[in-house]
Amino acid sequence: MAYKFPSIKLTKWQLALVLGTPLALGLGFYLYNKLSAKDLDNKTTDKDVDSENKKAGKGKTSKLKASKTQKKSLSIDGITEEDKETEKRKKLAELENERLSPLKEATIYKNEGNACYRNGKFDEAIIFYDKAIDKCPSEHKADLAIFYQNRAASYEMLRKWNKVKEDCTKSLQCNPRYPKAYFRRAKAYEATNEMSDCLDDVTATCILEMFQNNNTIMYADRVLKQTGREDAEKGMKDRVPMLPSKNFINTYLRSFVADPLQANMSANEVTDLLNTKDDRLYGFARAKHAMDEQRYDEIIPACTEEIESSESESQYKSEALLLRGTFHLLSGSFTEAKQDLDAVINNADADVKLRAYALIKRASLHIQLEEKDQGLADFDQVQKLQPDNPDLYHQRAQIYILLDQLNEALQEYEKAIKIAPNNAMAYVQKCYAEYRLGLLAGDQMRLLMIMNEFRNAIEKFPGCVECYSLMAQVLGDQQQFQQADQFYEKAIKMAPENASLLVHRGIMMLQWKGDIDKAISLMQQAIDVDDKCELAYETLGTVEVQRANLDRAVELFEKAIKLAKSQAEMCHLYALRNAAIAQINVTRKLGIDMSNISALAQAGIASQTMAADTK
Ligand SMILES: *[C@@H]1O[C@H](CO)[C@@H](O)[C@H](O)[C@H]1NC(C)=O
Ligand SMILES: *[C@@H]1O[C@H](CO)[C@@H](O)[C@H](O)[C@H]1NC(C)=O
Ligand SMILES: *[C@@H]1O[C@H](CO)[C@@H](O)[C@H](O)[C@H]1NC(C)=O
Ligand SMILES: *[C@@H]1O[C@H](CO)[C@@H](O)[C@H](O)[C@H]1NC(C)=O
Ligand SMILES: *[C@@H]1O[C@H](CO)[C@@H](O)[C@H](O)[C@H]1NC(C)=O
Ligand SMILES: *[C@@H]1O[C@H](CO)[C@@H](O)[C@H](O)[C@H]1NC(C)=O
Repeated sequence: MAYKFPSIKLTKWQLALVLGTPLALGLGFYLYNKLSAKDLDNKTTDKDVDSENKKAGKGKTSKLKASKTQKKSLSIDGITEEDKETEKRKKLAELENERLSPLKEATIYKNEGNACYRNGKFDEAIIFYDKAIDKCPSEHKADLAIFYQNRAASYEMLRKWNKVKEDCTKSLQCNPRYPKAYFRRAKAYEATNEMSDCLDDVTATCILEMFQNNNTIMYADRVLKQTGREDAEKGMKDRVPMLPSKNFINTYLRSFVADPLQANMSANEVTDLLNTKDDRLYGFARAKHAMDEQRYDEIIPACTEEIESSESESQYKSEALLLRGTFHLLSGSFTEAKQDLDAVINNADADVKLRAYALIKRASLHIQLEEKDQGLADFDQVQKLQPDNPDLYHQRAQIYILLDQLNEALQEYEKAIKIAPNNAMAYVQKCYAEYRLGLLAGDQMRLLMIMNEFRNAIEKFPGCVECYSLMAQVLGDQQQFQQADQFYEKAIKMAPENASLLVHRGIMMLQWKGDIDKAISLMQQAIDVDDKCELAYETLGTVEVQRANLDRAVELFEKAIKLAKSQAEMCHLYALRNAAIAQINVTRKLGIDMSNISALAQAGIASQTMAADTK
């Protein structure tokens, strides 16, 4: 899991509740509603064919029927009680010396093929299916589809992937809504590592099965994760380093209470610095000034100026390295960040405080790169250098939150607050960690006490946005939406430039009223306020998937991908994007009307939310 600020991570936690299990496939529930209502296929149902055919042709089913179908789809293909029946009938027919119709003859061959398949004689099975296909009149498309599909199953056992694909394709030409043929072809594509074709086919399977088959869904999820991982590996290499938004950086900087880089320079230092330059600020002084004025783009070049100046001129080399390393880290330039931070850490002459902060920042870099042990080791080193550093404990707490080690996080928050009792962020985040622990324990008394702690926090730190926003999240979580909304309103008034507050409020609107328009408008507002708000793009994209605005969703996910700060994040976002693309491809291929899905999707959100809430 990527390093993010707790609020953002917690949003994901909440998102999972609101949007259901965050299966990357993009919320099949809604499609399910739609498709089952639409009655996928009425045309090919009631012919006199074996069960296999009915399953392939019939879309609309009751729950009971669906589960029956599922059981059958797990068995090998087309081998059912009815086959045995047909076999008996065939014998009878032979006895009576009756002339068989070509279709019946073909079916008999198929049944022979099935018998061979069942006995592991795949080559022989294929010969029988050949005959079945040969005999079958071309107008009996549903039957032909089965024969091809069954032959593909035999080829699959022989690992002849190209043959599998060919036969599945032919099967689908005969019956374009035959989930099993899609699924088998998906597996063949996986075997030959054609992952986007594989994804398209498994998505088609999911849709045709109306997301009722866990096997398929789990398979789809795995394929999505794999394509996401592959794309992210490439994406990280091509990634253009980019500073996050001002607001993000402000939040980041505010999360340190004793950072020497943020301390005001003494009057002496300032005059000193100003005097050394003719008319313009230079090097670290310029960087510091830019930081005070939130002109963050200037910081890295200004620090470089300091670092590259000659030894005699450079008084603030370590400071400049630490600051540049910090901003490289924020930009996602991990190699550069590590170089700068290492330089400070390994310089025994550098101020202990600077080295401690370099270690704290390197720790979070390691966590972002999913090197947990190295990250924790850096924190241990800080503890030896500066055991009373309040930021050490606060930052380590946040890492523990990311790692879902809530008890450890709680202890760290407590230490942070003991050293720096006025650290409002640490105080209220501690409340939030306690809340989650209380929830896990199902302890009502404890939850009540924690709500009181939140109220105390607000009284104690009325100027701290996080007190209001976390209070709002907790209230929303308890379905006290009205109150929660008031806290969001206050928080947004205090920090109107804070995009993530708007996103949170939007998510709550979905939870509260299923009000998708309001939610979208808030998320859009978030993007207007901060066009680098990754969370807004991701969340809005997810909502658009539910509304079946898939093209828009893809666009939004791609914007989020550009802003992703770690491979894990990027992997998740690529999986979401790929799922949306596959759904676009499949709905086009199957001719499913998207605008109709969208209406139902809107109704679906409310019911899904309620389902999630009752958990
Ligand atoms: C599908 O069949 C059912 C019953 O056989 C019928 O009520 C329904 O209108 C049909 N739907 C379509 C779209 O033809
Ligand atoms: C969707 O269709 C496009 C264009 O045909 C194709 O490039 C892509 O591989 C397909 N599937 C996925 C998952 O991207
Ligand atoms: C499918 O998975 C869901 C969630 O994991 C579970 O609740 C459900 O019982 C599963 N259904 C079947 C048929 O296995
Ligand atoms: C730094 O200076 C600003 C005003 O210039 C002041 O508001 C702030 O409290 C000072 N911070 C510290 C830590 O002294
Ligand atoms: C913005 O809001 C989030 C909560 O949604 C909070 O965690 C963060 O600290 C806020 N940032 C600022 C600068 O107010
Ligand atoms: C789908 O939507 C279109 C336009 O919104 C409408 O004309 C059509 O009847 C709908 N089809 C179904 C099956 O609901």
